[in-house]
Amino acid sequence: ALQLTLAVIKPDAIAHPVIAEAIHQTILDNNFVIVRCKDLVWKRQDSERFYAEHSERFFYQRLVEFMSSGPMRAYVLAREDAVRHWRDLMGPTKVFQARYTSPACIRARFGLTDTRNTTHGSDSPESAQREISFFFPDFNVEQWLKKE
Ligand code: CMP
Repeated sequence: ALQLTLAVIKPDAIAHPVIAEAIHQTILDNNFVIVRCKDLVWKRQDSERFYAEHSERFFYQRLVEFMSSGPMRAYVLAREDAVRHWRDLMGPTKVFQARYTSPACIRARFGLTDTRNTTHGSDSPESAQREISFFFPDFNVEQWLKKE
């Protein structure tokens, strides 16, 4: 079915325009429609709120710091099965595992570490809805899907 997902190009990749452009091109090459796109910078609090579910993990502090360290780019993407397709394109969270198991994926190509792994993508349609509202408070997912 037609789905929306939230995709983010993280600060490590936005800091390198050639990499950000390559990721943008990968989105276009894979038949996603870009419904919304914006550049933004998070305050530390935004980062803490978005990743609250990870607050007990050992990597939380470095994740929160990294995600509020500079500009990033957020997209609302549409296509059939958008959630799964975007996650497949990103590949595994862990960059070194990604390089081994799926060298063509975005994280294998451009990721630096398990934290600085270039991209984020919603893990289900339900989290897509929550995450899209987080980044694009004026965007109504249900209404958009109804109109299509
Ligand atoms: P993301 O898809 O944004 O969801 C949670 C993020 O936490 C993840 O990508 C990584 O940036 C980070 N992360 C997940 N696991 C680890 C880990 N083992 N070590 C460091 N950072 C991690």
